[in-house]
Amino acid sequence: MMTQPQQKTQSSDAIVQWGAEYARGGIPSSQRSTPSGALIWAWQQLAAQHNLLRRAIDIGCGKGRNSLFLAQQGLDVTAMDFTPAAIAALTVEAKAQNLDSKIRAIAYDVTEGWPVPSDSQDFAVDAFCFKHIIGREARDAYKDNLFRALRVHGFYMISFASIGDGYYGQYIKERKADGAEATIVDPANDIASVLYTRERVVSYFHPHLQLIAERHQEKIDTMHGKTWPRSTYALLFRRTFHKM
Ligand SMILES: C[S@@+](CC[C@H](N)C(=O)[O-])C[C@H]1O[C@@H](n2cnc3c(N)ncnc32)[C@H](O)[C@@H]1O
Repeated sequence: MMTQPQQKTQSSDAIVQWGAEYARGGIPSSQRSTPSGALIWAWQQLAAQHNLLRRAIDIGCGKGRNSLFLAQQGLDVTAMDFTPAAIAALTVEAKAQNLDSKIRAIAYDVTEGWPVPSDSQDFAVDAFCFKHIIGREARDAYKDNLFRALRVHGFYMISFASIGDGYYGQYIKERKADGAEATIVDPANDIASVLYTRERVVSYFHPHLQLIAERHQEKIDTMHGKTWPRSTYALLFRRTFHKM
């Protein structure tokens, strides 16, 4: 299912880096089997909508902690991640939990056209994947895919490390002119991230997505074996009527 590049690309480097990262286990959240706090928060915000949420897409699902949660709630989930080892782990776990009929786990680059029909998804979830989409073109491709996949009034939850995050923020060399974003490389695994302000993310998806709830969390957490003052956001949006 994954697009096989003809030559070495930015994605092929990143796939190798992520494969090594999963083998090493440096980012604790990617190894957890419990759903992310951001998704639990968003799910609570959507309590009045639960019966209407049938299909979800987990963007950069990793080993699928959030896909498994959504499938346990009864949703049919398309789980996409370009790291084959992560998809393999999710496939095994989905089977072990008898959720293999609820989760379609596919090795897929989310900057390629998403393998779901237009207007088909009630809920799209991105826990710390968007921040790893590097470059304007790739980011815009992701955005177009998201807007195409979500039905009108469907929901999108994104969580990301803020530009003020104590771990990633230490690696900022230069901010973009307006100070709203900075690209960094984590020296622990050579993986690149974009750090955003909350406002940059909200304005990037406007007017096709309307912000309906948000959570800003500041806490001490572990990264690569040390503790850091982390600063993360979870934003919950609703798809508007705006055409693309
Ligand atoms: C920090 S991990 C988060 C994983 C998962 N969402 C979670 O919360 O456990 C980021 C994930 O994004 C995936 N990823 C990054 N860029 C991607 C891309 N262009 N296409 C598909 N997956 C991507 C990586 O393989 C990795 O599994």
